[in-house]
Amino acid sequence: MKILVIHGPNLNLLGTREPDQYGTLTLEQINNKILSCAKNQNVEVKIFQANSEGEIISEIHRAIGNFNGIVINPAAYTHTSVALRDALLAVELPTVEVHLSNIYKREDFRKQSLISDVVLGVISGFREQSYILGLEALLHHLKDNKS
Ligand code: DQA
Repeated sequence: MKILVIHGPNLNLLGTREPDQYGTLTLEQINNKILSCAKNQNVEVKIFQANSEGEIISEIHRAIGNFNGIVINPAAYTHTSVALRDALLAVELPTVEVHLSNIYKREDFRKQSLISDVVLGVISGFREQSYILGLEALLHHLKDNKS
């Protein structure tokens, strides 16, 4: 089982970026937690971060035939990117959307996600634990749907 974890723009600055919203862990510390969860679950995980929409979309395209599913925190592109939505629809891979903060508790423009209705589900508001819960939810789904 191979899972692709994608972090969107500005998440490379975690640790110092708006700690009240996103916590104080760095992206590297969060990635280590994801990798140790993957090890416990016996799955292979690739982690990718990019600040530009095109790089994220190309990485989603490259997932075809190489990964069983995707966990994605699209960050600000959640609220703006039709291209991201179309890429997820195109690759037809089971995907879980995650957010560190609870996007429904914040500004109105963050309450709309352009991908929520094309993914398996959304986990939002549990800081770094959102990624772990998202990965576990995706693995449950993949195991249940294994032929
Ligand atoms: C975020 C929420 C987004 O609204 C924001 O633009 C981010 C991070 C989160 O993880 O809470 O960059 O996706």
